[in-house]
Amino acid sequence: MMFYYSLNVQIFEQYCFADTILFIIFTLWMHFFVINICEYLKKIYLCTPLKIGIGYKNIKYKAMKRVLVILGVLIMGTISLNAQSTMESTKKNFSNKAVITPLPVLIIATYDENGNPDAMNAAWGGQCGPKHITFELSKHQTTENIRNNKAFTVSFADKKHVVQSDYFGIVSAKKEPDKIKKAGMTVSRSQFVNAPVINEYPLTVECKVAVFEEDGKGGARVVGEIVNMQADENILDENGNIDLGKLEPIMFDSSKNYYRVIGEKVGNAFSDGAKIK
Ligand SMILES: Cc1cc2nc3c(=O)[nH]c(=O)nc-3n(C[C@H](O)[C@H](O)[C@H](O)COP(=O)(O)O)c2cc1C
Repeated sequence: MMFYYSLNVQIFEQYCFADTILFIIFTLWMHFFVINICEYLKKIYLCTPLKIGIGYKNIKYKAMKRVLVILGVLIMGTISLNAQSTMESTKKNFSNKAVITPLPVLIIATYDENGNPDAMNAAWGGQCGPKHITFELSKHQTTENIRNNKAFTVSFADKKHVVQSDYFGIVSAKKEPDKIKKAGMTVSRSQFVNAPVINEYPLTVECKVAVFEEDGKGGARVVGEIVNMQADENILDENGNIDLGKLEPIMFDSSKNYYRVIGEKVGNAFSDGAKIK
């Protein structure tokens, strides 16, 4: 009975409440069934001078009961394993099409060789150290500009500028040299690096190139060293820290090609986990 109980506890942790109730009912039924069978066999064994089959000739009542309990345990074990394999088979493999989340929507701003500002949307990137940011860039005007200037700025696309941010990802400066102006945005020259800062985005980091690794196809893996970050006052909290709730940065949902907003606070880092220590 104890074994049945612990098996049910195990099942309860893995499956839903209804499944567990069914297992408990089945366990109880099994238990009483075993007892009844034993009682029945006991009667036959004691009342009849005939042996209960040749194999059971010397088996005492207790041993018989034990055999049936073990049989029950085996049945329960099989059911449990079957349930487990059913659960495993509900997972679907996607090969290497991984949805790593969140992918931030980053707007890289650069100058071309004539000093014309350009902006592009890059979601395949992110912070890769306390002072570094990385990108995987294909062959774009931006890639060429970074190669030449060894500098760029990165703004965080926010809920307020979804349309402009997407536009920067679907139109190249090679076809539309005035793309920033066309999006209704303006730039200022960074005080720290040779790159433009897009004024309308509330949070921007200014970077110089630390690594520029050509991919042989005109693209590159880029790592930028952050030399400064500037933020609008209206996205700061009362202590002067960046408030992501106020910034409302967006992320790229690569599974559905959606932009989603990041913001709701759901816990405290380095402290919530202590509840189960
Ligand atoms: C959501 C989104 C994410 C993108 N992420 C990247 C990226 O990480 N790397 C990249 O090379 N291109 C990326 N692109 C494509 C470029 O933003 C796009 O080709 C852009 O027009 C290049 O502009 P440019 O030629 O003016 O530099 C992305 C586009 C979108 C819409």
